[in-house]
Amino acid sequence: AIDPSFENTYEEVDRHEDHRVWTTDGEEPTEQKQGIHGTHVAVDFDICIADGACLEDCPVDVFEWVETPGHPESEIKADPIHEDQCIDCMLCVDVCPVDAIDVDPG
Ligand code: SF4
Ligand code: F3S
Ligand code: ZN
Repeated sequence: AIDPSFENTYEEVDRHEDHRVWTTDGEEPTEQKQGIHGTHVAVDFDICIADGACLEDCPVDVFEWVETPGHPESEIKADPIHEDQCIDCMLCVDVCPVDAIDVDPG
């Protein structure tokens, strides 16, 4: 499962679209090790298996597919592109079969 304390245990290393990208060691993401995308709505790309339930169920369409060719779990990921629109309903957290998503209502 995604580490809910990632803001403390991971380092912010990059930005993608308008959101942050985090890795455990502060190294740039690689094809094999993608890290976490987003902050308010965070998706651990190294856990996501492209199930798609989060994209289908999010009432405000926070997620979009992004391609991650060469990643061992899946070659597309649910990217929290519109995390600023999140209404904290927690549906995505509940439906993800591999617990790849953390939503922090703050
Ligand atoms: Fe969408 Fe609800 Fe998840 Fe926010 S908590 S990203 S609104 S499904
Ligand atoms: Fe990935 Fe979980 Fe969504 S596996 S596509 S984050 S439901
Ligand atoms: Zn992203």
